Amino acid sequence: LQQISLKKILYKKEVALLVNNIIRTMETPVVIEDAEGRTLMGKPEDMSTNSHPIEVSGEIIGWVEGNGDFSHLASAISYAAGVEIEKKLLAKETLEKYKEITLLYDMAERIGSCLDIKEVAGLTLEEITKFIECTGSSVMIYNEDKGCLETIGASGKHYDSKMTLIPGIGIRGAIFANGTSEIINNVKSDPRFVNGVREISSMICSPLKIKDKIIGIIDISNELPFNYTAAHLKLLNTIASQAAAAIENARLYDNLREAFFMTVHALAETVEKRDPYTGGHTKRVMDYSLAIGKEMSLNEDEITGLRLAAILHDIGKIGVKDSVLLKDGKLTDEEFEQIKLHSLYGEQILRHVRQMKDVIPGVKHHHEKYNGKGYPDGLKGDEIPIAARIICVADTFDAMTTDRPYRKGLSLEIAFEELRRCSGTQFDPNVTEAFFKYFEKIHEKEDKDA
Ligand SMILES: [Fe+2]
Repeated sequence: LQQISLKKILYKKEVALLVNNIIRTMETPVVIEDAEGRTLMGKPEDMSTNSHPIEVSGEIIGWVEGNGDFSHLASAISYAAGVEIEKKLLAKETLEKYKEITLLYDMAERIGSCLDIKEVAGLTLEEITKFIECTGSSVMIYNEDKGCLETIGASGKHYDSKMTLIPGIGIRGAIFANGTSEIINNVKSDPRFVNGVREISSMICSPLKIKDKIIGIIDISNELPFNYTAAHLKLLNTIASQAAAAIENARLYDNLREAFFMTVHALAETVEKRDPYTGGHTKRVMDYSLAIGKEMSLNEDEITGLRLAAILHDIGKIGVKDSVLLKDGKLTDEEFEQIKLHSLYGEQILRHVRQMKDVIPGVKHHHEKYNGKGYPDGLKGDEIPIAARIICVADTFDAMTTDRPYRKGLSLEIAFEELRRCSGTQFDPNVTEAFFKYFEKIHEKEDKDA
């Protein structure tokens, strides 16, 4: 109300017109003053006057002074001022709503494009503090296997990221169980309050719902007494529904990704099972390859591609006859040519899966040699895809160090020596270097542990 200026209202065209018309009909002098008594209209004359207040919402913002009855003029100006204030309030409210919607939209966009559950929770809690005053917040998700709610995101000193809750126990446990959001402005006097858990006075808690299923809860709280309102609750509910959708999305993606990796492993095992003596080879090649990849600072996408290529590097062996693949003795030239085809078969098999596009180069070229004397294409140096150069070292090293029915595996020292000897001819020297570094680190760690 203090911001409303009677002077500005009187200058408004429609108000000025109205006021002038009334004054003209009265034919007696009149003066309009603001609340402090400053003249805004008319000439103060020596006259015995009646004072009529100009009021808005019970507050006097000015006076009409005149020696006639100007009460209707005061009423008209009061009315005009009331309308002005309402307009201002409405504009302010609209602006606030607009800001809120913009923030909510930004938030939906940020968490919607996020495929990691913990990241979704973290972002959601980060955004909440922009909307609602609080000293702590958390997101908890129900773990069906364990039968409890687990914290997946938390902020504030009274929150423990390892905290779990049993459905039905405590305020949040109860809200999860009955699925209705609540404001609790006096936490300690709530009959469901479990003593000693958290030092908080006021809180709001909303269930995270996907259709009719409750998957968890989100809550915000204040250490000091705070008057959370229905507007806060409504806002938290909106944020909760967006967070729930994003979490579910991330979970579905996780499941899909896991199913994909498991299928890839199963596929690789069909080959491994044909040759019982290679047991565990695929996993070791994957482990070595990833270690090298990380040592060489490959990015996340490259690491994922490398992992898949390492698992699937020999998938093409499925197309090689048992009599050749499992032969104990020395291979004839013709048999060796058949074995060599496995890298091309690998490409042909994986071509059917669109998502494997970036994995194929690592599989197809894992038998290329750095000097260009490998197969299938005789690629040289950096022409060989990096994943293939890495798998080549990991694969050869594991083949050398693993026991076979007809020979015992080489010792690590001799295998390392062999890698060093062929570095620059068969192997990319940067890759062998990274491999040695990885082993040095393991060795150092073992020394420390001992
Ligand atoms: Fe191979």
